[in-house]
Amino acid sequence: MRWRRTKTIVVPVALGTGQAGAVRLALAAASDETVAYQVVGEAVTTDGLYQLLGQAKLAVVDLDQLQEGTVGRAALGQALELVPHATSAAFLADPTALLLAGRAAVGAAAYPPRVVACTRQAGGVGTTSVALSMAQAFRQATRLPTAVVEMAYGPSPLRTLLSGDDWPDLYDLVTHTDMQPGHWEGVTIYPMTGKYAANLLPVQLATYLRQVQAAHILTVLDLAPNHPQAGVLTPPGTGAAPYEPLSVDVWLVLSRSGRVDSAVGAGELAARLRAQGRGQVVELINAADTVDRVVGMATTTLPLPRVSATPHPKLGRVALRHIYPGAF
Ligand SMILES: Nc1ncnc2c1ncn2[C@@H]1O[C@H](COP(=O)(O)OP(=O)(O)OP(=O)(O)O)[C@@H](O)[C@H]1O
Ligand SMILES: [Mg+2]
Repeated sequence: MRWRRTKTIVVPVALGTGQAGAVRLALAAASDETVAYQVVGEAVTTDGLYQLLGQAKLAVVDLDQLQEGTVGRAALGQALELVPHATSAAFLADPTALLLAGRAAVGAAAYPPRVVACTRQAGGVGTTSVALSMAQAFRQATRLPTAVVEMAYGPSPLRTLLSGDDWPDLYDLVTHTDMQPGHWEGVTIYPMTGKYAANLLPVQLATYLRQVQAAHILTVLDLAPNHPQAGVLTPPGTGAAPYEPLSVDVWLVLSRSGRVDSAVGAGELAARLRAQGRGQVVELINAADTVDRVVGMATTTLPLPRVSATPHPKLGRVALRHIYPGAF
């Protein structure tokens, strides 16, 4: 009786190096009938490599040779931790360790970088809860760099809520380049005290927020309505601003179950954002239960679950389905 030939295991490899030719030769030499190391692509930019990581089971990358795009080098470095990887020099010196790790095949980042603004018209509907829960759930599930940026009027509710008394304020971070932000459950936190932030020039704040975006895969904004600094969020090309604003990918406009005022306000806000063509706008009703679905308040909006206490990863996961469909 003849043995059936073993099915070849294909190990997809991402390349981001000037030594691609030599690496390809080494991969070909290591491939045989049982294992084929297949190059899925060669990237010259950080964005390109980040995309390739979605398909790759290992990577040979010289980070400093990549041209920096939307995904910053630091964020890419962290995303790369999810995939067995080596520099071209290390790989070419001894390919064995990496090739073995490639067979063990870890899952890579299937999450494009996103900026999400959680906002509302009426207060107390759960904006902060949803923003924090999303960041918490995303970080727990992916270990990817995640940030929450607060845009508040008065003293930072975020700092109070999470007892992050030692965390530097967004104002301090913008004005002192050597200062490091605080962390909560692995999420980078940028609390804003409104009266300090008022002293920042739009160009300063916009530039800093774009750096924050580049350093994280998911950036969630906890945005108070009509915030005086919200001009820094106008998408590029729509205004004559003398700076490049932070582009928001998805607006989550919240209302709260049983609060008709909040639903009316959210409807108006969402309509305004849509009219301005400011990216994807999703209306969500928070803390919904079956009654809402029955009485029809939730017919035009999508429900988020009521949870025992906030922040709560379950609340975050449901909200994330609107950002990364199919992943949560
Ligand atoms: N899905 C939920 N299930 C249960 N409780 C919730 C939910 N969402 C929010 N809450 C609770 O509702 C209260 C208000 O929430 P939160 O502070 O997040 O609202 P907000 O819109 O940010 O308010 P503010 O207007 O002060 O900014 C909090 O006590 C929070 O724990
Ligand atoms: Mg709030």
